[in-house]
Amino acid sequence: MRALIAAGGNARRLRPITYTINKHLIPLANKPMILFAIEHIARAGIKEIFINVNPGEKEIQQYVGDGSRWGARITYVEQTGGPKGVAHIIKNAEHFLRGEPFLFHLGDNIIVGELRHFVERFERENLDALFAFARVKDPQRFGVPVIENGKLLRIEEKPLVPKTDLAQTGIYFYNDSVFDAVKNIEPSSRGEYEISDANTYLIQAGRAVGWEEITGWWKDTGKPEDLLEGNQLLLNEVLQKESGIHGMIGPQVTIQGKVHIGKGTTVWDNVLIRGPVSIGENSTIKNSYIGPYSSIGNNCVIENTEIEHSVIMDYAEIKTGTRVVDSIIGKNAIVTSAKNSLPLGHKLIIGDNSQVEI
Ligand code: DAU
Repeated sequence: MRALIAAGGNARRLRPITYTINKHLIPLANKPMILFAIEHIARAGIKEIFINVNPGEKEIQQYVGDGSRWGARITYVEQTGGPKGVAHIIKNAEHFLRGEPFLFHLGDNIIVGELRHFVERFERENLDALFAFARVKDPQRFGVPVIENGKLLRIEEKPLVPKTDLAQTGIYFYNDSVFDAVKNIEPSSRGEYEISDANTYLIQAGRAVGWEEITGWWKDTGKPEDLLEGNQLLLNEVLQKESGIHGMIGPQVTIQGKVHIGKGTTVWDNVLIRGPVSIGENSTIKNSYIGPYSSIGNNCVIENTEIEHSVIMDYAEIKTGTRVVDSIIGKNAIVTSAKNSLPLGHKLIIGDNSQVEI
């Protein structure tokens, strides 16, 4: 079996962060999120991986490499004409995939749990397609299956009135029959080749389509609040294996729970860190509280601040004298206190499409 990971697209809902970083490289638990998909795929025993990227993409290739660190081989496939829809990714990669079944994994989907039993079921039952569904609060954001008397009839993409609270997750298994499906669909009203239309085509063509519910944890990271939840999920997972204090810890520092502190990071002068927390390398934390579900990148400076449930990216400087919660702070961002500079008031230099709650 092979795997195809989707890592192109526009990621408009994550602007301004995605103006300067590909969405799939946003760090969660201090690691570019696409690496979690690759790790899951490699753990399922799949060693031949294709990654769909936007035309001209270079960053993903730089970060991810050729796959050898997972004992896999990674080939990058540019999506001709740019992001024309999730089904178009498969159409575009047919040449690489034909002849062997494959797992299609949306690169912005985070799952906890193993994929191996899906692989086994797909092979054992000789299926043409296998889907994973999950229960969600907002199914209208997703592909939603229509199931009657236990029979899967079709998948509706982002229906205004969803028929269930089940959502199609971004984990799909296919054989060659999907290439026929993606060629036989038209762009939707929003101008995209929808994967739900291709899946409906397979179902209605009488193909052997299986499905099951993911009961563990699954997250699509389409919106900023999803990123924070994804970070929370992954911190729990990553710190089980990788917590450790590798930096310099001064006196008057208390560390509670699962915490990772990278090499060259200095923590000193009245600091409380309450895990799960991951702090990268060469950062400085002084006179601050770092609370649960926070990830702080490399080369950051945090002083006189309380941070909780937030993602702080590399080279950010935060010296606010106040509490920062549920926040995503991009690379090189500076957040300081306005107290000592006149006139008093909030002083903001904020990029396009930013979101600030004061
Ligand atoms: O997350 C699950 C959902 O993913 C499914 O329930 C929906 O049925 C499916 O259409 C998809 O919906 P999204 O609105 O979340 O898709 P999004 O545009 O965010 O793209 C999903 C991934 O595919 C993301 O990693 C970006 C990548 N992508 C997207 C497009 C449209 C590409 O690589 N190329 C593309 O052309």
